[in-house]
Formats: sequence, structure tokens, C-alpha cells
Amino acid sequence: MSRTIAIIGATGNQGGSVAAHYLSLNAQATSTGSTPPYHIRGLTRNPTSPAAQDLVSKGVEIVRADLDDLTTLTPALAGANLIFSITNYWEPFFRPDSRARAAEQGISPRRYAYDVEYQQGKNIADAAAATVSSLDPNGFIASTTSHAGKCSDGKFKELYHLDAKADVFPDYVNEKHPELAKKMSCLQTGTFMHSYLIAPASYLRRLKDGSFETCFTTHPDTVVPHLDPVADVGAMVHAVSQLPAGKSYMAAGSLSTWTEWMEIWGRLTGSKARYRQVSEDDMVAHSGEEALGKELADMFSYFSWPGLDGESEKGVERTILYPDDIRKLGVDVSMTTLEDYIKATDWSAVLAKEPVE
Ligand SMILES: NC(=O)c1ccc[n+]([C@@H]2O[C@H](COP(=O)([O-])OP(=O)(O)OC[C@H]3O[C@@H](n4cnc5c(N)ncnc54)[C@H](OP(=O)(O)O)[C@@H]3O)[C@@H](O)[C@H]2O)c1
Repeated sequence: MSRTIAIIGATGNQGGSVAAHYLSLNAQATSTGSTPPYHIRGLTRNPTSPAAQDLVSKGVEIVRADLDDLTTLTPALAGANLIFSITNYWEPFFRPDSRARAAEQGISPRRYAYDVEYQQGKNIADAAAATVSSLDPNGFIASTTSHAGKCSDGKFKELYHLDAKADVFPDYVNEKHPELAKKMSCLQTGTFMHSYLIAPASYLRRLKDGSFETCFTTHPDTVVPHLDPVADVGAMVHAVSQLPAGKSYMAAGSLSTWTEWMEIWGRLTGSKARYRQVSEDDMVAHSGEEALGKELADMFSYFSWPGLDGESEKGVERTILYPDDIRKLGVDVSMTTLEDYIKATDWSAVLAKEPVE
């Protein structure tokens, strides 16, 4: 009998990668005359969207569910053997109505997006707990992050897009749903290789002399995990699902400093390129918006200490498992390197950017 995998965010980067990976496992089985092993169920707010309909055409069952509404989420996850969960801080952060709502509540836009993402995470956990008996022993894999406030010993108090995730996965689940916690793995994700599209004012700035620079608050020698989420989250989820539950993992295809990132990019695109560490004030000025600039500047500073995974730059023993650790445990996982990603990407729009002042 096929196993049901329920994918939150199936129409997005991470969830879409999980859907594609399990579809490819089904296709492999079919090509050898076997029954497809997975029934793939994707959750979306809008089943008629092109992304949802594309999944339907590939054989995914699409179910309407809203992370803001537990009554839609509970039936959508019911009976699943494996659940992949994500939440998206940036949607409530950027949504046009968010600033007005934050002002009404007398809170910052950063805090407003935290509140939305935190509640969505709790709804997912409550709905997953309602079907805990149908889940595999490692059947709840949550995309999350390290807890910035705790891992930095209180230095970063407002790194909301990290803490909104970590306050639920694992903290809320451990506290409220111990049976679900026994079946949970936390999947942290490296910084997305396509993030130059999300923060173009800081990434790959074209200067008047034709060279390019990337400017963050991260120390130039800090090693950062980098991930192609579209290509690789599915492979990580499949690998993690074959291991015992109760651990945290880092999905990353390369571990590189920003200096190395720019060296590789410059070499492969034939451009003069460098990384420059800047102050928080500079990052806020580049981003053109205080709330966004501060959230990003805090994150890039957090990379320097204690590290994106909350451990690796702190001098403590690393507990989080990286792809190499997974391979040592005997489970193969193929990941995209930064070099492969840069080679495969069309950089013409970046190379033709207007120079900054
Ligand atoms: N940029 C980076 O370097 C980086 C690194 C690590 C982690 N992250 C984190 O990654 C997350 C974003 O992941 P992503 O790139 O996979 O997101 P994405 O591509 O923007 O997709 C978001 C998905 O979530 C679904 N969704 C959003 N709100 C929903 C709601 N209320 N109810 C039901 N579904 C909802 C959307 O589905 P529908 O629209 O179809 O409903 C969509 O499938 C963020 O939280 C971010 O903090 C980013």
C-alpha cells in the first residue's frame, strides 16, 4: 500500500522540491514495473493556481488548507504517514495590509510577521498532533531554524524570522505535543542560493567601474551554509526520513564564506567581484527600508556569531547533522554545490543591473 506524504507549501520552493523528489521516486518505481510507493498530497490556499494545477497534472492530490485556519489544516493532514512543514515569515512581513495592522496593534512590522508565523506554526503542530498515530516513526519533518535569542545568549532579541520558527519547531511541539515530538525531525536550511533575487540591494551590487560587490554584516571569514532549496530540500527530507527521529539537520550543498561566494561568482561570470563587510547602518541604508534592513542585518551578523545553525561559530560541539554526517550514517543524499548552482544560473539580468551611486 502506498504511503501518504502531506506537503505544506507544495507550490513553493521548499515544498515544491519535496513534491518533485517524491514524484521522481514514484516515476522510478513505475519505470521498473513497480507500484508507485507514495501518494503525494500538496496543501495550498488556492487549488486553482497555475502552480497547484501543475502539480495536479503530475499526479499530486491538491487539498485546500490555510495555515491561519486550523479547521482546514486538520483534515488536510489527516491520515498522513509523513508530513513536511514550512512557514513563510516574509509573506506577512511584506503583505500590503501588514504595516497598517502592525501600526494598529502598536508593534513593529517585524514583530507582526513573527506573531503570524508563530501562530501558523502552532496550527501546523496542533493539526499534525491530531494524526500522530498515522505518522511513520520519523514522520514529521519541519523546516525551521536555530533559535537566535537562545543560541546567542540573548544578544539577538529581535531576529524574528528565526525565532518564530524555532519557538514552535521544536519548542512548542516538545512542550505541548510530546508524542508528536517523538516523531519529529527539525530541518534547518542554509541561506538560499537564490537570495540575491530577494535582497538585490545588498547582493551583487554593480558599481560604476563595472565591478560587483556584495555587502553584508557577516565577517568575511565566517563559513556560511548555502542551499539550493528548489533542487535539494526534497532529497534532504527523503534522507532524514530514513534516520531516527528527534534530531536537527542542516540542509546545505556548500559551506563557504561570502568572500569565496564572490570569488566563485566572479570567476564563473568573468566579472571583477568582491565581498565587503558593512555596518548594520549601511545595510539598512542599502535595503531602503528600516524594518527589512534591520531584520537582514541582524541575520547576517548572527552568521558571524554564533553561526546560522546556532552552534558552529560558537566553539561548542556541533550537534546538528550536515549532509556529510548523514552520508556517514549510510544514507546517500545528493546536494547542489554553490559552483554548480552558479554555473547553471542565467546571470544576464544581474550583469546588466544599473550601477549604484
Ligand atoms: N531566503 C533564505 O535564504 C532562507 C533561508 C532559510 C530559510 N528561509 C525561510 O524559508 C521560508 C520560505 O520558504 P519558501 O521559499 O519555500 O517559500 P515560498 O516559495 O514563498 O512558498 C511559500 C509556500 O507556503 C504556502 N503558504 C504561505 N502561506 C500560507 C497559508 N497561510 N496557508 C497555506 N499555505 C501557505 C504557499 O502556498 P500557496 O500560496 O499556494 O497557498 C507556498 O507554497 C521563509 O520562512 C524563510 O524565512 C529562507
